[in-house]
Amino acid sequence: MKRSYYIQTLGCQMNYSDSERIDRILQNLGLEKVESMNNADLIIFNTCSIRQKGEDRVFGQMVNITRLRKNKPHLLTAITGCMTRITSTRQDEERDKLLRRAPEVDFVFRIEDLQRVPEIIKNFWSDFQIPEIAEANLASYFQINPAYTSSFQAFVPIGTGCDNFCTYCIVPYSRKREISRSMDEIFEECKNLVENGCLEITLLGQNVNSYGLSNLDKKTDLFKDIDQPFIELLKRIDSLKNKGLKRLRFTSNHPKDLSDELIDAMATLETQMPYVHLPVQSGSDQVLKHMNRHYTADWYRDLVRKLNEKIPGIAISTDIIVGFCDETEEQFMETCKLFEDIEWDMAYLAQYSNRKGTFAWKNLQDNVSLSDKKKRWHKLNIILKAYALKKHKIFEGKTVEVLVEKYGNGICEGRSEHFKTTLFPSDENLIGKLVKVYVERGREWQLEGHMITD
Ligand code: SAH
Ligand code: SF4
Ligand code: F3S
Repeated sequence: MKRSYYIQTLGCQMNYSDSERIDRILQNLGLEKVESMNNADLIIFNTCSIRQKGEDRVFGQMVNITRLRKNKPHLLTAITGCMTRITSTRQDEERDKLLRRAPEVDFVFRIEDLQRVPEIIKNFWSDFQIPEIAEANLASYFQINPAYTSSFQAFVPIGTGCDNFCTYCIVPYSRKREISRSMDEIFEECKNLVENGCLEITLLGQNVNSYGLSNLDKKTDLFKDIDQPFIELLKRIDSLKNKGLKRLRFTSNHPKDLSDELIDAMATLETQMPYVHLPVQSGSDQVLKHMNRHYTADWYRDLVRKLNEKIPGIAISTDIIVGFCDETEEQFMETCKLFEDIEWDMAYLAQYSNRKGTFAWKNLQDNVSLSDKKKRWHKLNIILKAYALKKHKIFEGKTVEVLVEKYGNGICEGRSEHFKTTLFPSDENLIGKLVKVYVERGREWQLEGHMITD
């Protein structure tokens, strides 16, 4: 009988992209993907550790697993993603601590060890015929050909890990040291995508603009003699416009690594979209220092000024943490002030969550009360809504180009060049098409209009 699997993906785009590689491995084993945990023989949680809430969601699933196992003794459960530290099974002597905390889980694997998963499954399911898979001998899991979710849009990881050690952040521990994929490998993946009809590529990494420059990268010959590898990479991918690539995006960026030359490249490359995600985290210099971010609020203001100068109308989004250790009301007000100066198009607001093992967890005090964190979050959210609306209103009476991603109840939905969610009525399902939309209304979280044909 055919066996099936279900993946629950939490966290950032990197995890979603990793899940597409997990899909390929499991599908090559003959497993069928299902959309509900209840029907699966293998359940995988691809996890995020950035905040406690994400981890709690996984532990919260354990009661469901116990229930499902009653009727399905062969049910296998696994955890991967940022909650795992080593690859191990319940039988192993050296076990990931997670297996103790989640007794219903059979094995955990680091995404870098994805190729080992077939062997692990084989050991659990001795009655199940598992074919040999070609991927077993690949040098890196990045070389696994993903089972892309979309045929016209793709996420392409250009590296993983982070060397920045912002004091609040778990990523340098969960994803380990920063390492970049070779330019040839990334280019090949992008070329294949475009040759198969992909219109939009988003390059992914914890910090894409330090691509090729990490300590581990310097130990290889891959980036020798290349001054700004990320710009080089963008240029190469931009050349795929001849084969049909329409849009290039990348995320996430560290402001300290966004060079003038990169801004110039963004301004000139044809496929590069006029949008950048530039996490600021706080508007207070003292808090930024505590966070180990290596810039001041004024330095960030200046960076945004340069971006606006070189790429007029560019949309900029950010991440902000409220209630970080020792953050005073005055320091929080500096963040509100910065919001009013910058007028971000969008901001992802988070209440500080103390992460075990980080510098802040060891050395600083999580001393802003939960209610103050909530209050600050709400206050900032009101500011965000006002500016999101203002930024959307600018598009009223203008024409944008939309790559349609969804269709339902006679409404098409997609993103504009500036990454604005745009809705318009249509009798036809236009998923995967690039269409021109005249914007009638800008709302808080979306643009609304009608399609225009030339
Ligand atoms: N490398 C990227 C992504 C980091 S994680 C970057 O630097 O932008 C995404 C966001 O999660 C961060 O920008 C930060 O705003 C938030 N975040 C990280 N650690 C957090 C913590 N301990 N508590 C609350 N939010 C956190
Ligand atoms: Fe975390 Fe900072 Fe690295 Fe982003 S740059 S992943 S916030 S340590
Ligand atoms: Fe979360 Fe890991 Fe991404 S901790 S935000 S899934 S890199």
